[in-house]
Amino acid sequence: MKKYNVGIIGATGMVGQRFTLLLHDHPWFNIAVLAASGRSAGKTYKEAIGARWAMKDKMPAELENMIVLDAENDIDEIVSKVDFVFCAVNMKKDEIRALEEKYAKKECPVVSNNSAHRFTEDVPMIIPEINPEHLEVIAAQKKRLGTKKGFIAVKSNCSIQGYLPALKVLDEKYGVNKALVCTYQAISGAGKTFERWPEMIDNVIPFIGGEEEKSEKEPLKIWGKVKDGKIVLAEKPSFTAQCIRVPVSDGHLAAVFVSFDRKPTKEEIKEIWKNYSGVPQELSLPHAPKQYLNYYEEDDMPQVKLCRDLEGGMAVTIGRLREDTQYDYKFVCLAHNTLRGAAGGAVLLAELLAAKGYFD
Ligand SMILES: NC(=O)c1ccc[n+]([C@@H]2O[C@H](COP(=O)([O-])OP(=O)(O)OC[C@H]3O[C@@H](n4cnc5c(N)ncnc54)[C@H](OP(=O)(O)O)[C@@H]3O)[C@@H](O)[C@H]2O)c1
Repeated sequence: MKKYNVGIIGATGMVGQRFTLLLHDHPWFNIAVLAASGRSAGKTYKEAIGARWAMKDKMPAELENMIVLDAENDIDEIVSKVDFVFCAVNMKKDEIRALEEKYAKKECPVVSNNSAHRFTEDVPMIIPEINPEHLEVIAAQKKRLGTKKGFIAVKSNCSIQGYLPALKVLDEKYGVNKALVCTYQAISGAGKTFERWPEMIDNVIPFIGGEEEKSEKEPLKIWGKVKDGKIVLAEKPSFTAQCIRVPVSDGHLAAVFVSFDRKPTKEEIKEIWKNYSGVPQELSLPHAPKQYLNYYEEDDMPQVKLCRDLEGGMAVTIGRLREDTQYDYKFVCLAHNTLRGAAGGAVLLAELLAAKGYFD
C-alpha cells in the first residue's frame, strides 16, 4: 500500500490528540499537517497544546516541534501538503459544514468526526463493519460538489458504537422491531478529564445535550439504503434512548432492551455475534479488530475498566443477554468512545476508503 500524507484539523483537541497517537506510526498514513484555530496557529504543537495534553501515552516526539497551521486561513497550504484530512473541531455546526465543504471542493477528501454533515443526504455515515456499501453515495456527492476527488465521509456518534452493531447484525435474520437503550457515557466524550471537570467526581449527570436525539436517529441512517444518489433513512426499528453522564474517564456502556419480528433463541443470538466479521476483517485493515463483537458469559461483564481497551479499543464487548418481561431480550454492551467511537473509528473508515481507492 502506498503511503498517504494526512492532515489533522483540530489536532489540539481531545479527538485530535488521539489521532496523533493512532497515526504517528501508521503503516499507510503519514502525518504531514497539524491544524487548529488561529489561537494555536504559528506555535509548535507542544506550545499550542500547553497543559491540555489529555492522553495516557506521551505526545509523539516527532510532532512536538511541528508548526500548527490555521485550519481556515492556511487552507491552500494544507491541501497542497496532504492527500486527505481528518477533521474534529469544536465550532458552530454551520461553520463546520462550510469548512468541510471548502476542503472537499479543493479536492481534499475529509474524514470527519463532527456531527455537522451526518444528515446530509449524500454524505455517507459509516461504521466500517456495518454499512460499507453506503460509500457508493460518494459518487453523487462529488457530482453535487463538482469535484473529481474531494468528498466528505463521516463516522457516527460515539454513543451508538456498541449497541448499533450488536443489534444490526441480528436484523437480517430476525428483524429488529424496537429497541430501548440507556447509555452510561464517559467524560472524555465531552472532551474532558477529571482535572478539567472536577464536578464529575462522585457524580452522575442525567443529561447530555443533543445525545438522545442522535442515539435514536443516527441508527436509522446506518440502517438506511442508497437510492438515487441519497441515503434514504430506514423507518424501522424504532429506538428510544436515555443518555447519562457517569464518572468514568473513557468507555460508553449501554443497557439495551430489544424485540424482534421473529424471536431468536439466546444461543442463536450469541452464535451470530461470535461469527460476525465485516469488510474491515476481510481486508485485514490495520485498525480492524480480529474479533469485532465479543460476548462474555460472566454476569459481571463487560466492565468498563477491564474491557474498553480490548483490541486497541476497537472491539465491542457484550454481556448479560437474558429474556425480558416486556421486550424479547435485554443485554449490556460497551465501546471505547474516543477510540472506536471517535478517532479510531475515523482511522478505520479512512483505511477502508484507502483500500477501496477513494484517495487516489
Ligand atoms: N470527545 C469525543 O469523544 C468525541 C467523540 C465523537 C465526536 N466528537 C466530535 O469531535 C469534535 C472535536 O471534539 P473534541 O472533544 O476533540 O473537542 P475539543 O477538545 O474542544 O477540541 C476542539 C478542536 O477544535 C479546534 N477549533 C476550535 N475552533 C476552531 C476554528 N475556528 N478553526 C479551526 N479549529 C478550531 C480547537 O483548536 P484550538 O486548540 O486552537 O482552539 C481544537 O483543536 C467535535 O465536533 C465533537 O463533537 C468528539
